[in-house]
Amino acid sequence: MKQPKDYIVFPLDLPTYDQAMSYVDRLNNQVGLFKVGLELFISQGPRILKSIRDTAGAGIFLDLKLHDIPATVKRAFMAASKYRPRFVTIHCDEGEELLRSVAEDNPGDTKILAVTVLTSLDQKKLKALGYDDKFTDDLSALVLLKARMAKAAGCHGVVCSGLEVAIIKRELGPEFLAVTPGIRPVWSVVNQDDQKRIVTPADAVKNGADYVVIGRPIRDAKDPADAAMRVAEEIESAL
Ligand code: C5P
Repeated sequence: MKQPKDYIVFPLDLPTYDQAMSYVDRLNNQVGLFKVGLELFISQGPRILKSIRDTAGAGIFLDLKLHDIPATVKRAFMAASKYRPRFVTIHCDEGEELLRSVAEDNPGDTKILAVTVLTSLDQKKLKALGYDDKFTDDLSALVLLKARMAKAAGCHGVVCSGLEVAIIKRELGPEFLAVTPGIRPVWSVVNQDDQKRIVTPADAVKNGADYVVIGRPIRDAKDPADAAMRVAEEIESAL
């Protein structure tokens, strides 16, 4: 059965192998997944995935946010799935055909998470990119459009903000996974960092999030394992 800690995705946003592995050692029993992003994967390569697997019971979330022509994304996904991560991320923006072609030929158990709208994009930037007013004026409509497309293509879920998770679950059903970054426990909000549209772990899970990505509040705490435990307690209270 899924435990409260299993909801927590800890991003290994760290520059070196030793730093990353020290967090894997400290948080191994406190989180459900370790997220390996571009910085760590590019600097350390696949060996980091092997080391995490050899050390941790927690799963691996390979956050490559793939975006290219379909043949290239498909080959990159195939290469990534050989390391058996639980999740790999692919951008929605090349369209439904690409997502479908990867989903149809997915060779293993790795689940595809589609990236809908990056939280760094706002109304002004989307307008500059040529998006229609009906989407720039209502970001959640754009997120939902892309999430619907991802589901139709056979993806397992999406990455979305905690503010959109409720509408995604309502419209696309409980089985379609929602992974939410931008999570801040109330006790961690001393100084505002670059996450603006924040949601607490309890609210994200109440809204239906299947996983919450929490980095800096755990990474920068005096005792990261204790911080992760407090997040798990908060999630438990919301379940
Ligand atoms: O909790 P914190 O803000 O430190 O988490 C940062 C992490 O969340 C980074 O790994 C970043 O890639 C991820 N993130 C994401 N999607 C977003 C925003 C942040 O995966 N839309």
